[in-house]
Amino acid sequence: MTSYKIAVIGGTGPQGRGLAYRFAKAGHTVVVGSRASERAEQTATDIATRIDDTAQISGADNVTAAGSADVVLLAVPYEGHAALVESLWAQLADKVVISCVNPIRFDARGPYGLRVGDGSAAEEAQRIVTDARLVGAFHHLSAVSLWSEAELLDHEDVLVCGDNSQATDVAVHLARAITGRDGINAGALRLARHLEPLTATLISINKRYKIRSGIRIVGLEHKV
Ligand SMILES: NC(=O)c1ccc[n+]([C@@H]2O[C@H](COP(=O)([O-])OP(=O)(O)OC[C@H]3O[C@@H](n4cnc5c(N)ncnc54)[C@H](OP(=O)(O)O)[C@@H]3O)[C@@H](O)[C@H]2O)c1
Repeated sequence: MTSYKIAVIGGTGPQGRGLAYRFAKAGHTVVVGSRASERAEQTATDIATRIDDTAQISGADNVTAAGSADVVLLAVPYEGHAALVESLWAQLADKVVISCVNPIRFDARGPYGLRVGDGSAAEEAQRIVTDARLVGAFHHLSAVSLWSEAELLDHEDVLVCGDNSQATDVAVHLARAITGRDGINAGALRLARHLEPLTATLISINKRYKIRSGIRIVGLEHKV
């Protein structure tokens, strides 16, 4: 299996921590990123404790983490996203950058997808760091499921979108750490404007039915 060195920016939050855990557990080298290196180091220790001595995981400030990795995962809230990407411009240029950022808000009627000027958070990051190879993926996985004891989340699929096929392939491959299967290449990066707000629908379903819903694509078994 190809293994990557992955920086998880915002890795101290539930989603980044959960993805970092799954990637490290699958044998990838992970650097948890944070605005404060001590928080990143503490999260890395928490994750390592859940795996074993073989886990290759450490923590660093976001700039050091992004600069040290081949693949950078953005797992920060949409609020502050543009400023964060700008601050990492030099570290993200030429890298595979995967975004699971969902621009979502809540009001009295429940969750909804925000209108984003660039179409999506992933496209916003691509506009800011033109030389990065942006991919959208991992939007629909629940942080609780990622951090759970389940060996694999094999009842779910990871949908991936991107304009650079080599970069998209990286996310397709990384999905194996979570579901045990390749992620599904859904198409161009602009599809992130549909994938990101879809999470608002999943959250709404979760609240109504008191479940952790996910995405599974049917029909692939019939592909020619
Ligand atoms: N939670 C989920 O179940 C879930 C599922 C799918 C996708 N997502 C998406 O994944 C992303 C992260 O979700 P989350 O729930 O983990 O978020 P979160 O806990 O609100 O934030 C994650 C981390 O981002 C950093 N951060 C917070 N505000 C920031 C800012 N203004 N600038 C830079 N860094 C900031 C913080 O780390 P430091 O303070 O240590 O820097 C924080 O621990 C979001 O875009 C969310 O939509 C979440």
